[in-house]
Amino acid sequence: MKIVLCFILAYLIGSFPSGYLIGEIFFQQDIRHLGSGNVGTTNTFRAFGILPGIVVLGLDIFKGTLGASLPVFFHVPGKQWMILVGLAAVLGHCFSIFLHFKGGKAVATASGILLAYNPPLFVFAFSMFILIILLTSTVSLASLISLPVLTLAVIPTHDPYFLFAAILVTIVVYVRHLPNIRRLCHHKENIVHFGLVYYL
Ligand code: G3P
Repeated sequence: MKIVLCFILAYLIGSFPSGYLIGEIFFQQDIRHLGSGNVGTTNTFRAFGILPGIVVLGLDIFKGTLGASLPVFFHVPGKQWMILVGLAAVLGHCFSIFLHFKGGKAVATASGILLAYNPPLFVFAFSMFILIILLTSTVSLASLISLPVLTLAVIPTHDPYFLFAAILVTIVVYVRHLPNIRRLCHHKENIVHFGLVYYL
């Protein structure tokens, strides 16, 4: 019973539409009609600037971390539940009950599970992610490269639930990034500006 509650709560936490709310409350604009139309960190950064972007990044990561931590808070035994319940938060982020079952592209919230479950691998993946952004100014590329690399890094842990989640999230991220992949192929992908800009 407690585990069912964890799944429901995690889905609702993941559904919290951070980027959408920041846009509506502070800028009176619907982020879904700006930039890439995504409600995640990258588009918040692109549409509203660095501070709102950082806030949404923090909130979206926290959704995954909090979701994955629910089984611990509810004293549900078995570390695998952290991953499985965390995935419910990712589900909520991608298919938010508050946004007519639409939502983000999974990256930040999934990284929140990683932060709760394996902090060293989070630091590794996050560093790689930031490095790719600094080199290319293209966040989608960072997402698309980091996820498979992370999945490879999970293999030596011999943790089947962890590997299952890494593969599943990689597939979800690739499917959610299909428009980005199309734009990348046509050299038309949106970029973020960090001073170091390379047009792909
Ligand atoms: O995590 C989302 C990022 O990889 C791409 O975002 O807004 O450029 O589609 P966006």
